[in-house]
Order: sequence, then C-alpha cells, then structure tokens
Amino acid sequence: MVALKNTSETYGWPAKLLHWVVAILMVCLVIAGLTFTGMERGDARTELANTHRSFGLLLLVIMLVRLAWKLMNPTPEDPAGMPRWQVLSARIAHWGLYVLIFAQITLGILVSAQQPIWFFGLFSFGPLLAENREQHEMFEELHQAGWIIIAVIVGVHVLAALYHHFKQKDNVLRRMITG
Ligand code: HEM
Ligand code: HEM
Repeated sequence: MVALKNTSETYGWPAKLLHWVVAILMVCLVIAGLTFTGMERGDARTELANTHRSFGLLLLVIMLVRLAWKLMNPTPEDPAGMPRWQVLSARIAHWGLYVLIFAQITLGILVSAQQPIWFFGLFSFGPLLAENREQHEMFEELHQAGWIIIAVIVGVHVLAALYHHFKQKDNVLRRMITG
C-alpha cells in the first residue's frame, strides 16, 4: 500500500509528489526567467513574464501546502552512523531551501509590485508599491542573486543524494522516489 503520512523510515506519497512538483517548477521558473529577461520588449516577452509570475504564485500556494504537510508529519530519520556534520548540513540545506524559496517568491512579487500582477489571466492585484526606479532595480538584483544561491544549494543537494545512493548505498534517494 502507498502510505499517506511520512514515517521514521520513508516519505509518504504527498511529500514525494510535492518534492518533485516543486523541483520541476523551480527548474521551469529559472528557464522562463532567464528566457524572458533576454527577449526584446514586446507581446511575447510580456506573455512569458506573466506566465513566469503566475507559476511563481502557484509555487507559493504549493509551498504553503508543503510546509504545512512537513509540520504535520515526521521527517524520516537519517541513516544510522551518518556523520554529525552531514546531518547538520542536510538539516540546514533543507530548511534553508524552504526559507530561500519563500524569499525568492517574495522578491519576485516585489520586482513586479509597481504594476498589476496577473495570475494566469484570471485576476490581477496591485500595484502594491509606488513607482520607484531605484527600489525596482534593487529587488531585481536580489531576485537575480536569489536564484543563483538556490541553484548552488540545489547542486550540492543533488550531489549529496547521488552520494547516498551510489556511494553509501542507503535508502535516502529511494525513499524520496519509491519508498
Ligand atoms: C522561486 C520562484 C522563482 C524563481 C526561481 C525565479 C527565477 C527567476 C529568474 C532566473 C529570473 C531571471 C533573472 C535575470 O534577469 O537574470 C527571474 C526574473 C524575474 N522574475 Fe522570477 N522567479 C521566481 C518567482 C517569481 C515570482 C513569484 C514573480 C512575480 C510574481 C517573479 C517575477 C520576476 C520578474 C518581474 C523578473 C524580471 C526581473 C528582471 O528584469 O531582472 N519571479 N526570475
Ligand atoms: C534531481 C534533483 C533532486 C534530487 C535527486 C533530490 C533528492 C532529494 C532527496 C533524496 C531528499 C530526501 C532527503 C532525506 O531523506 O532526508 C530530498 C529532500 C528535499 N529536497 Fe530534494 N532533490 C532534488 C531537487 C530538489 C529541488 C530543486 C529542491 C528545491 C529547490 C529540493 C528541495 C528539497 C527539500 C526542501 C527537501 C527536504 C524535504 C523535507 O524533509 O521536507 N530538492 N531531496
């Protein structure tokens, strides 16, 4: 049977599903962000920018659900004998990613906040801030730095997962995929 709740051994299906949906969304958001910022001004750019914002807002909803689910569930235990520095690094990286993703979404909203923000053409809100070029550029730079910091941590995170699977031969990667 496919378990709903996490146990001390493995993640339940909602935690796994949410992990991979967020992973795919993050990659798509980075690709879309880099693509539209490199395009000439025009309808196509505006459309892709709006799509980027909409999926970013959708990610906010998904991350709130994910955080709630994490707080309602046990986190599977680390493999026995895992060095203390690795346990600590994993803890910092996982919580750090939650914090950084929320920060990145907030910065995205702040970059866009001097105009109305559309959610999939369904509704819009704002402007939340008065026009201010300097402030806009500051949020732009922070939103740029943000994705790079996240990408570096995710890079190490992926390497750590592969290290567990191929070198340590434990169930750390498997329990985030099959169980
Ligand atoms: C975790 C979620 C997000 C990620 C990973 C992400 C990633 C990116 C990336 C990689 C860029 C291109 C940066 C560059 O110029 O080099 C970008 C630009 C942008 N993003 Fe996001 N984004 C996220 C969420 C959001 C949200 C929620 C909004 C707004 C509601 C948003 C609005 C924007 C805007 C307006 C730009 C253009 C800024 C500029 O001109 O440099 N982003 N984003
Ligand atoms: C190919 C890419 C990825 C792989 C192979 C991977 C692998 C894993 C594995 C195996 C775990 C479970 C660790 C454990 O059991 O203690 C995990 C947890 C986690 N991953 Fe990933 N991951 C990937 C991408 C990402 C991305 C893109 C993000 C977010 C930007 C992310 C964020 C997280 C977080 C926050 C946790 C902690 C889960 C929790 O306990 O709440 N991962 N990942």
